[in-house]
Amino acid sequence: MYVCNCFGVTEAQVKRHAEDGACTPRQIASACKAGTDCGSCVRRIQALLGRGACPRRELVDQGGSAVALAPQAELPEAA
Ligand code: FES
Repeated sequence: MYVCNCFGVTEAQVKRHAEDGACTPRQIASACKAGTDCGSCVRRIQALLGRGACPRRELVDQGGSAVALAPQAELPEAA
């Protein structure tokens, strides 16, 4: 099943990139371009990442990495 229709990226591909360490939509975009055209798949990618596809997700959250593709969903919570 496709996650990103613009680049023909499948859910399985996104999960594989996540397992390889791509823990944010931006890193997924770097790995396979998904989310860099119309952007409509970014939320689907976020949902996949949020479901534990990436084992290192917590480390990324702690690092507070900025994600330009979807800043509203990736902003660190106010301390
Ligand atoms: S569907 Fe992924 S960028 Fe358009």
